Amino acid sequence: MDQPPRISSSGGRVGVLLPGLGAVATTVVAGVEAVRRGLAQPFGSLTQMNTIRLGKRTEARAPLIKDLIDLAGLDQLVFGAWDPIPDDAYDSAVNAGVLDRTQHLDPIRDFLKSVKPMPAVFDTAYVKRLDGPNRKREGSRMELAEAVREDIRRFKSEHGCSRAVMIWCGSTEVFQRSGSAHATPEAFEQAMRDDDPAIAPSMIYAWAAIMEGVPYANGAPNLSADVPALEALAQDRGVPVAGKDFKTGQTLMKTILAPGLKARMLGVSGWFSTNILGNRDGEVLDDPESFKTKEESKLGVLEYILQPRMYPELYGRLYHKVRINYYPPRGDDKEGWDNLDIFGWLGYPMQIKVDFLCRDSILAAPIVLDLALFLDLAARSGMGGIQEWLSFYFKSPHTPEGLYPEHDLFIQHKKLKNTLRWLAGEDQITHLGREYYE
Ligand SMILES: NC(=O)c1ccc[n+]([C@@H]2O[C@H](COP(=O)([O-])OP(=O)(O)OC[C@H]3O[C@@H](n4cnc5c(N)ncnc54)[C@H](O)[C@@H]3O)[C@@H](O)[C@H]2O)c1
Repeated sequence: MDQPPRISSSGGRVGVLLPGLGAVATTVVAGVEAVRRGLAQPFGSLTQMNTIRLGKRTEARAPLIKDLIDLAGLDQLVFGAWDPIPDDAYDSAVNAGVLDRTQHLDPIRDFLKSVKPMPAVFDTAYVKRLDGPNRKREGSRMELAEAVREDIRRFKSEHGCSRAVMIWCGSTEVFQRSGSAHATPEAFEQAMRDDDPAIAPSMIYAWAAIMEGVPYANGAPNLSADVPALEALAQDRGVPVAGKDFKTGQTLMKTILAPGLKARMLGVSGWFSTNILGNRDGEVLDDPESFKTKEESKLGVLEYILQPRMYPELYGRLYHKVRINYYPPRGDDKEGWDNLDIFGWLGYPMQIKVDFLCRDSILAAPIVLDLALFLDLAARSGMGGIQEWLSFYFKSPHTPEGLYPEHDLFIQHKKLKNTLRWLAGEDQITHLGREYYE
């Protein structure tokens, strides 16, 4: 195995730049501040709570991840955002209705009021159900991208940040396939100069981040940095990128259950998933073109985990359907129902019903925090390009062309921890365990 890289110190302030200051973004910003002030605990975050086993089981070495690896501390994080809707983080969080106003928002009101969105690169052709006045008026896409680069530099200097990371928490853009404008960095830059509509707003942020040496992750399912031009640019410039689409409610459940059924060689003939949600994200996804982007992201999961071509008798006829229904009364408190038709020994049928009454942004917020700290770690370790070890956090893991993604949550978790062990110069854990019986 190759030698672990030298990791530069985590000291100094880190800008966490969020295109999109909606439900997820405000839940992470408010949550980090609440934890910093000792008002709440960072449940759901591996960087804050998870331990990591090192060496043999008999050695009883299991430090916290943050004690093994030099990660930035929560006190070092400074939040910035862009949004076409001009609400500051307090007003946006109140509107999102995720966190309790009296218990978690009012005590940190001044802090949340101070996080105001910068004018966004926004285009209603890409997000059809929203609009807002807080947007950049520069001419071509290249000029918009240069304005975002300028925002990044100004933010870092105004807040004394030695480095920054960017995580897309903006709305899901309409479905799009990678094309000639996205093929190489040169074609991409020419397309921006030509103001080619094939360059989506999220791609403009991603390009600006990579050019500024700022790691970029995409929490939504739209392409964004997942195109050859931006992959190559990130690789060449040694900037980490990761994506796509935070793995939260229903897909989290799917990637927990499906590997278990497959491990036991139980067949699956049908998996019907339906959701009701009433937040702004639900409203955007009510547009068929944004829904298609999300649907593709959600559908890929079972195909990769169950490998129907390898097990045609078990999974070859699987009928997989995903629906998302906008239902305003529920707000951010989504309900995800799954009906699984499975079969066992001699083909006898069985059913599993899952009814997950979850809170979307409560599941997403710790993912944003962990991604910010791990992307910063990757950058300090000189790990540029696609960060597949972070696929644990995504519904649709970003992998290079020709390499299929790992969707199984437990494989992803092992991969993440083995990457941390490698970075720390510790042995990999294979779970072979012969040494205990020798
Ligand atoms: N559990 C989850 O909540 C979850 C899980 C997976 C993915 N996601 C994705 O994360 C994203 C954010 O989710 P949310 O619930 O916070 O949605 P939200 O609608 O509350 O917030 C999104 C914000 O992005 C802003 N926006 C849209 N286009 C923008 C642009 N070009 N530049 C800057 N801002 C822009 C919108 O104005 C809005 O305020 C969505 O794409 C969603 O699909 C969320």
